[in-house]
Amino acid sequence: MVEEERSEQDSVKITRRRFTLGIMLAAAAGAFGSLLSLFKVLTPEAKAGYVATVAPGDLLVYAKGAQQGTVLQASAFKVGDSVLAYPKGKAKNPANLVRLVRLEESEFASPTHKGLTSQGFVAYSAICTHLGCIVGWKETLSHPASSYLECPCHDSIFNPAQGAKVMGGPAPVPLAQIGVKVSKNGELVFTSGFTGPIGPQA
Ligand code: FES
Repeated sequence: MVEEERSEQDSVKITRRRFTLGIMLAAAAGAFGSLLSLFKVLTPEAKAGYVATVAPGDLLVYAKGAQQGTVLQASAFKVGDSVLAYPKGKAKNPANLVRLVRLEESEFASPTHKGLTSQGFVAYSAICTHLGCIVGWKETLSHPASSYLECPCHDSIFNPAQGAKVMGGPAPVPLAQIGVKVSKNGELVFTSGFTGPIGPQA
């Protein structure tokens, strides 16, 4: 009789231990999940699914057209020109797509990172910060400084002379800038990573 009672008490203790252990594991899993969520919030690129792999020293190449894959030469661009470009050998990652623009150096104003420009060349992520369409280029032939970056999806407008500041439309933040320079032999080269997150930033 005493042994039966002990056996029952042991069984109750084991059940309680298992129950407590279950709660602790569930709490640990919840905490881990919260940490992951926090990490995603703190890394917007990962949240949006756009993780660029461009690196300083990568050459810029044409992203499309007859010259696709060819390295960009500074001499091919006049003030007011713009082109879509990828880092050489990294075209499979859409997060690497940039829009290169050539302006008069004197046109650059805050918040453009002037140290990331070269001979009037400036580059921004080509992925719209609204919903991720590829931004186009509206050139004003009579006054290149009035040209602007425009998203074809919902008409967001970005000012390339002012750090791709949003001038209109639903885009919540500017396009991230990325450093470029003209090398000694006249090729366009990346000099940095992006200054901010890539893709939709709702
Ligand atoms: S995706 Fe560019 S404005 Fe909507």
